[in-house]
Amino acid sequence: ERSRDSVDSLRIQREPQNKVTVVLGAQWGDEGKGKVVDLLAMDADIVCRCQGGNNAGHTVVVDSVEYDFHLLPSGVLNKKAISFIGNGVVIHLPGLFEEAEKNSQKGLQGWEERLKISDRAHIVFNFHQAVDGIQEQLRQQQAGKNLGTTKKGIGPAYSSKAARNGLRVCDLVSDFSVFEEKFRVLAGHFQTTYPNLNIDIDAELEQLKVISVLGYAERLRPLVTDGVYFMHKALNGPSKKILVEGANAALLDIDFGTYPFVTSSNCTVGGVCTGLGVPPSHVGRVYGVVKAYTTRVGVGAFPTEQDNDTGDLLQSRGREFGVTTGRRRRCGWLDLVLVRYAHMVNGFSAIALTKLDILDTLPEIKIGIAYTADGKPLPSFPANMDVLTKVQVTYETFPGWCCSTEGVRSFDELPSQAQAYISFIENFLEVPVKWVGVGKSRESMIKLF
Ligand SMILES: *[C@@H]1O[C@H](CO)[C@@H](O)[C@H](O)[C@H]1NC(C)=O
Ligand SMILES: *[C@@H]1O[C@H](CO)[C@@H](O)[C@H](O)[C@H]1NC(C)=O
Repeated sequence: ERSRDSVDSLRIQREPQNKVTVVLGAQWGDEGKGKVVDLLAMDADIVCRCQGGNNAGHTVVVDSVEYDFHLLPSGVLNKKAISFIGNGVVIHLPGLFEEAEKNSQKGLQGWEERLKISDRAHIVFNFHQAVDGIQEQLRQQQAGKNLGTTKKGIGPAYSSKAARNGLRVCDLVSDFSVFEEKFRVLAGHFQTTYPNLNIDIDAELEQLKVISVLGYAERLRPLVTDGVYFMHKALNGPSKKILVEGANAALLDIDFGTYPFVTSSNCTVGGVCTGLGVPPSHVGRVYGVVKAYTTRVGVGAFPTEQDNDTGDLLQSRGREFGVTTGRRRRCGWLDLVLVRYAHMVNGFSAIALTKLDILDTLPEIKIGIAYTADGKPLPSFPANMDVLTKVQVTYETFPGWCCSTEGVRSFDELPSQAQAYISFIENFLEVPVKWVGVGKSRESMIKLF
């Protein structure tokens, strides 16, 4: 029997100890989350990834060296922080080691001592990537349009997870013969489904095998940890700064995004809980990263797209090419109907507004503030893509500032037109803007409060 005292002490209402700070994309991705994460990761103790795979890309510039991160949390640059890849992430192991290698050549040091990987994370295999390519081809043939996936096997790996024949990190670092058997079953399943699939199962197994020098199991084992226990200790132990960097973005979320042109994971705030094993009471500040205009990669409805000189200007000034694929991004005006929708789902504490300087040369700037369909105003962001394709956007027009904001380091130094642009966004969303980005470096993120 427990003593009366211990029961009493349990019954005292306690505030959760440590909370996680979350950074999420609020549009269709490529908002510049990396820069915000990098800023916050400087004094973080733990930096986590909770969803997605190496289909996302973060560029972080430190001392004019450009690091590219796809799977590694960009916090891995901080020598004092532990990087954690949670159970909600799907991991292509050759991709992970290759990425670490590339960044090591640029100066990243000691990452293997600072990286932890959840044993419940699912593995992306080479055949998942091959299947991703085949599925895209089939979509193109059958429906005349593909999803524009990055062909990194993310969708097929999450499909295996949901179909319950996926393999997890804990399987790979355990009995290899059991792993091999499951691996062959999974690969066989894809071979039956896609007769054109040309994969070398034995070669991939060999690559994964324990004994081989190139094998991942041996290099992986020291990094693998029980993610739930790891997070639990971090949240309930001594005071710690814990950061979660979202990959992809709200409008690419499997549930809330512009389905079917979405990614396969939960990119909104709920993914933090399911992808790390963190109770909701431990979710603290949630920062939404919003680009000062809108971009979108690949196909799908894009109400504020400017398929003309304006879009071209944003594309070239903003250097809007994908980090993972090199694809040219479609560009258009800031769409606050869309960002407000992302806020409804995520409940942003504040916003980081990035790439404001890209608008420096425009004489006139617009913001989409309402949608109408068939002459009727829409109360929110529509679920149906056919509706979204034909909505009419109502714009608010702002005078541009037509001067360079490069080198500006405070809100007061910004041209008044730029200040008005920012204030409008805050008032519309009823969320404060905490940072404004006017360049590539860490210093170019102006802190407003
Ligand atoms: C996303 O979230 C939903 C709802 O919680 C869950 O059923 C699903 O498994 C999650 N998907 C992934 C890929 O984590
Ligand atoms: C640019 O293109 C968009 C559609 O892509 C159109 O709505 C807009 O009016 C165009 N702007 C100009 C200045 O032609």
